[in-house]
Amino acid sequence: MKLNAINAEKLSAAVQALKNGDVIGLPTETVYGLAADAMNTHAVKKIFALKGRPIDHPLIMHIADASQLSRWASTIPEEAFVLAQHFWPGPLTMILKKQPQVPDVVTGGQDTVGLRCPAHPLALALLQQFGSGVAAPSANRFGRISPTTAQHVRDEFGDAVHVILEGGECEVGIESTIIDLSTSMPRILRPGMISQTEIESVIGVIGQAALEDQNIPRASGTLAAHYAPRTPMKSQTRAEILRKPEPNACYLLLGEPISSLQSICLANSCGQYAHHLYAALRELDQRNGPLIIIEQTPQNSDWLAVNDRLSRALAGAGLDDAL
Ligand code: TXA
Ligand code: MG
Repeated sequence: MKLNAINAEKLSAAVQALKNGDVIGLPTETVYGLAADAMNTHAVKKIFALKGRPIDHPLIMHIADASQLSRWASTIPEEAFVLAQHFWPGPLTMILKKQPQVPDVVTGGQDTVGLRCPAHPLALALLQQFGSGVAAPSANRFGRISPTTAQHVRDEFGDAVHVILEGGECEVGIESTIIDLSTSMPRILRPGMISQTEIESVIGVIGQAALEDQNIPRASGTLAAHYAPRTPMKSQTRAEILRKPEPNACYLLLGEPISSLQSICLANSCGQYAHHLYAALRELDQRNGPLIIIEQTPQNSDWLAVNDRLSRALAGAGLDDAL
């Protein structure tokens, strides 16, 4: 996406809104974010209120480039610079020891901060013009499906968010990989489309992902029930689907359509699947049927991040009160 005159005008309005302490809808290459000036505690609190997110869940701070790392992080291992050089701008968030000036409201009171330089041209232009850090979680209500279009953000928040930058469909479609570099052994806290193998090819072997470890710093994306539609959901293999089709269910199929079923069919490639996944879940949820059935995806490491989101959506689907 190229920046034209209309975008430039909207961008200035968005920068001004951030300066005024307002919350804006921000496109990134992963998902849309709900963004505020990270140094403005009052503005950041508005994000929590809008999302209905517990106040001790830390937010990711978005920055314009790696030269800003030392402004927000106090101890920066060499691996952080190497990872930034390889993967930024891009879908990688690094957890590092924070500088004292980073407000507690951004870090959930922890001594670490999550930093990411997003690859979307509008997000980058906004960060450059704004000149400071922007705190932005995904622009969905707590526990719900992340938005991958500006319309999803409008559907989620209506008039409560006045400025939403229109940045098209998010290219990646699922949230960034989060790597914790604040301890002696780096490890992945949330899988994303930048895989552990890719990271290890750049900085060497890292620790086992500790996604189920209760001692890791709080990360709402690691709650078992997350990214969830309101409609109950279950997963089945293609053989199970063909053996006993459920005529009232809406299916999310993989690869080949099955003509007799109400379904959305996604390509059998993890990149394409991730790109379309949240929009497909939203659409299936909006059909208000009794059940969504997800065709089981390949259970190999390429699909780790997609399968992580699917299992959390399955855990939370239909459980309105559990979130
Ligand atoms: O792709 C993304 O990362 C998107 C876009 C908008 O950049 N953002 C996103 O934010 O997914 P959110 O808030 O929905 O998820 C951020 C995750 C949460 O699970 C949060 O707990 C974790 O990052 N996080 C942030 N700071 C942290 C910290 N200091 N230690 C551990 N986890 C942290
Ligand atoms: Mg989120």
